[in-house]
Amino acid sequence: MHAIEISKLDKRYDNGLKALTNINLKVKKGEIFALLGPNGAGKSSLINIICGIAKKNNGKISILGFDNISQYKQARSLIGLVPQEIATDSFEKVIDTLKFSRGLFNKKKSSTYLDKILRDLSLFEKKNQQIRTLSGGMKRRVMIAKALSHEPKILFLDEPTAGVDVELRKNLWKNLNDLKKNGVTIFLTTHYIEEAEQLADRVGVIHEGKIIVVEKTSKLLEKLGKKTLKISIKKKTESLKLIIKKYSLKKSVSHYLLNYDLNDKNIVSNFFKDLNKNQIEFEDLEIKKSSLEEVFLNLIDK
Ligand SMILES: Nc1ncnc2c1ncn2[C@@H]1O[C@H](COP(=O)(O)OP(=O)(O)O)[C@@H](O)[C@H]1O
Ligand SMILES: [Mg+2]
Repeated sequence: MHAIEISKLDKRYDNGLKALTNINLKVKKGEIFALLGPNGAGKSSLINIICGIAKKNNGKISILGFDNISQYKQARSLIGLVPQEIATDSFEKVIDTLKFSRGLFNKKKSSTYLDKILRDLSLFEKKNQQIRTLSGGMKRRVMIAKALSHEPKILFLDEPTAGVDVELRKNLWKNLNDLKKNGVTIFLTTHYIEEAEQLADRVGVIHEGKIIVVEKTSKLLEKLGKKTLKISIKKKTESLKLIIKKYSLKKSVSHYLLNYDLNDKNIVSNFFKDLNKNQIEFEDLEIKKSSLEEVFLNLIDK
């Protein structure tokens, strides 16, 4: 059984805007899945629909086997949601907001469990402080703690690190990896490609309301990624001109660039054989792998 199973989902807002078209997606138990897409792509719409905050027009969603509409209560109790907008001005104490949230799901009181989440998220010392007195980073972690207060099996985070500094972002990634180790399935949206690259087992790319690819993060890079070999040549000779033509080398300041697909295994060795044969000497070389960023831009360009 999958953690989340979505089929043939459509969403049209009342003003006629078609936000999501024929979404089919399966998220595996225990994985970190990142839904990657630019602003307005439909990420929040999808999360809000899965979590029962917004209505869909068509399609079916099941959460660990429970239909998210006809079995809403069961489905919702398995879900924790950290929304895109965080409430920041609460006079409530950290621990009280967790207790209240846990209570909403009719879960038995457990200070042991709540203390554990607070410790895991480095919030234990702030337990009795009012939320409004915390730093932005702590408030975000409180939102995560709150979403986890009823022991959900799946955690949704809508752009958890938007506008967050680098250090805090890395800390959050560690928190999410720890949750994964504890068996929580994580579904997050992001428009930071690096976040997906660093954190996610699989990535789905959404663009204009359509999911255009779903793939293992490493596979996506392998399949669509390119490498560039950057080389500086000592002397420009006639034979070099032929090689430039043969390999379509590009000139970049004092270097030449050879672009090739990751799965093209022989091109580099052939290239060096040709250099050797023609006694062309080089001074320096560097190989660069394209980032998920470049892959992403290639994808939405098509
Ligand atoms: N309540 C709404 N009513 C009308 N249009 C909406 C509403 N919410 C979002 N949209 C539109 O739906 C599209 C997808 O938005 P959203 O899901 O928020 O994208 P993302 O989270 O990827 O930035 C956008 O064009 C947005 O303007
Ligand atoms: Mg959004």
